[in-house]
Amino acid sequence: MYESIIQRDLDALIDDRVSDGMFRVDRAVYTDEAIFEQEVSRIFENCWWFLCHESQVANHGDYFWTDIGDQPVFVHRQEDGSLKCFINACSHRAAILTPFKQGNAKTLTCRFHGWTYKCDGACIGVKNEEEGTEKGKFDLREIARLESYKGFVFGCLNSNICSLEDWLGAAKPWIDLMVVQSPEGLEVVPGSSTYKTDGNWKLQAENSVDGYHVSTVHRVFAHTIAARESKGEYTGIKKTESGRIAGGVPTAGYSLGNGHMSIWAQHTTPEVRPIWEAKDRLEKELSPIEVEWILTKGRNLYLFPNVMLMDNPSTQIRVMKPVSANRVDITVYCVAPKGESDKARAGRLRKFEDFYLTAGMATSDDIAALEDTHEGSMARDAKWSEFKRGIRTFTRGADDDAKALGFEPEVSSDNWDHEVLYHGFYRHWLKMMKGEQAG
Ligand code: FES
Ligand SMILES: [Fe+2]
Repeated sequence: MYESIIQRDLDALIDDRVSDGMFRVDRAVYTDEAIFEQEVSRIFENCWWFLCHESQVANHGDYFWTDIGDQPVFVHRQEDGSLKCFINACSHRAAILTPFKQGNAKTLTCRFHGWTYKCDGACIGVKNEEEGTEKGKFDLREIARLESYKGFVFGCLNSNICSLEDWLGAAKPWIDLMVVQSPEGLEVVPGSSTYKTDGNWKLQAENSVDGYHVSTVHRVFAHTIAARESKGEYTGIKKTESGRIAGGVPTAGYSLGNGHMSIWAQHTTPEVRPIWEAKDRLEKELSPIEVEWILTKGRNLYLFPNVMLMDNPSTQIRVMKPVSANRVDITVYCVAPKGESDKARAGRLRKFEDFYLTAGMATSDDIAALEDTHEGSMARDAKWSEFKRGIRTFTRGADDDAKALGFEPEVSSDNWDHEVLYHGFYRHWLKMMKGEQAG
């Protein structure tokens, strides 16, 4: 008989006995709607949540509509250049205020009964205003916290949380490796793709740093591009780097604290990456170790709970919107160094389409694997998912590569096939589910 989390002990969901060689997770964490509801209130509304990139709200009046958990919010660029984030609901009777997902409006007029708000959230117009209406009482509700880290904008509905920088911790140098690729920083390339996945959001989080699946799930992708390139097409920058898919290259995985995780794999043909054109400049501006990491290590970074930053053949921001235990909506954006050549930008976009775009050749296979996993997780009579690979060999703290770049992970593993990076993710998840404050 199905037993909801409300009757259950949260600790029993995670079988965490690493010293005995055991780490497994009860698959109810993917399928139980009561667990999902608790995730909304205890995790999503209590930690730093990725909202957008600053380039998506570059000018006064630019707005960007997104969600924190299941609550709609929008980020709005102010006249003084600062950002504010408001609950996206009219103070009158809750209609969404932004006419589009993204746009520019120095004032917002509600499309229902016409109330108007200034960019700073002040209610400045009530249609057919009655005597005694105190407009000041109807200003928009600003969210508790809003901070940016090098262009990446995060918000939190709870004021009682550490700074964003403390929250990101050991993940910061991984973000920096993307940001420093141009002296002008990054920009989100116009356009996006959103797809709905019949599976739990944590399966997507796991997948984004799961090196173990690459050589099976993406073998068709690797064969297809090998066949394409054998015909003499897609040479030079158009060629897609695929050495990591076939396997046999140096790799690593890290648990970065606060639920963040990352992996890298060595590129076998770094000269086909769009950033290769900036090699000479990077060597002048950055340390040799930063240049090595940027040019030769393909990197996936997962930031707890809702965003992934990828720097592989192409570069991506992947944002999750968990909808229910059984569904997560995902939106992907190509992000690129400002000022790169047209040739590099075109190569970046073609590679983005190849691998990351929903209509491409790899993400569709990831979605199929994720949905299979979710469906199999409904089998409550076989309830444990195993996260044991590498459990006897991992390093506590930093390995040599982490020390060289200068970040301090909780755990390092010298093979991206290993699953020990998930231990930190699930420990952090459990901590927040039990009501302990993030960060
Ligand atoms: S709901 Fe916005 S003016 Fe009525
Ligand atoms: Fe994949």
